Amino acid sequence: MDRPIGVFDSGIGGLNVLHKCAALLKNESFIYLADYAAMPFGEKSEDEVRRIAVKNAERLVEMNCKAIVVACNTATAVGIEEIRRLFPNIISIGLEPAVKPCVSELTGGYAVALVTPATAKSRRFNELMSVYGDNTVAVRCPSLAKSIEDNIFSLENIRAEVYDILSGYRGAEAVVLGCSHYSYISNMIKDYYGGKVKIYDGADALALNLKRRLEWEYLISDCAERSIRFYSTKRKFGQ
Ligand code: DGL
Repeated sequence: MDRPIGVFDSGIGGLNVLHKCAALLKNESFIYLADYAAMPFGEKSEDEVRRIAVKNAERLVEMNCKAIVVACNTATAVGIEEIRRLFPNIISIGLEPAVKPCVSELTGGYAVALVTPATAKSRRFNELMSVYGDNTVAVRCPSLAKSIEDNIFSLENIRAEVYDILSGYRGAEAVVLGCSHYSYISNMIKDYYGGKVKIYDGADALALNLKRRLEWEYLISDCAERSIRFYSTKRKFGQ
């Protein structure tokens, strides 16, 4: 089997990203790492998030990964540059909020970009917003990722929390999911707007970007068999 691609997040948020990558790259093996011990990334200081991001990249490099997918907006916003600096010979792809495609498709209204507090503060996100974020409001969502993680089998429990966040933005035309955990509440967001909202997720662009980079570096696998393995810190994966 070829060397795997490593994917990490603080929990289950990055599974959506893994799914998109695995669907596009059918001969690639993957390792998914959920760093439960450090969850929630988005409530931590910049230094802590950077250290956590680097630590997880290091773990995946030690597992012989040929590429690192940072399936987390927070770790990308704060740590991707450091990961690239420390591991220049490994492909590293981050998850960016899809602000640019969202704004280009607005038809006169405005968008909201839902992000963690750490992403909201980060230089990378603020630069993205200042270049592409016309008519887009950044909305910090303290503890939402953790609520999703803790209620993943009973998401109805957090409907009121989600609606409360959106209540200040009733007129929004589009919503950018700026945290990989938020993909689990996209239907709830649609419900809030009575179906009349467009939702943007950076996971598709990430998967395409990964494919292009692997092709560019002649690292695409043609193995007939592949594996997808799951690891976690602190507690067993999915528990
Ligand atoms: N899923 C992560 C993100 O995309 C972080 C969630 C968290 O641990 O706070 O930002």
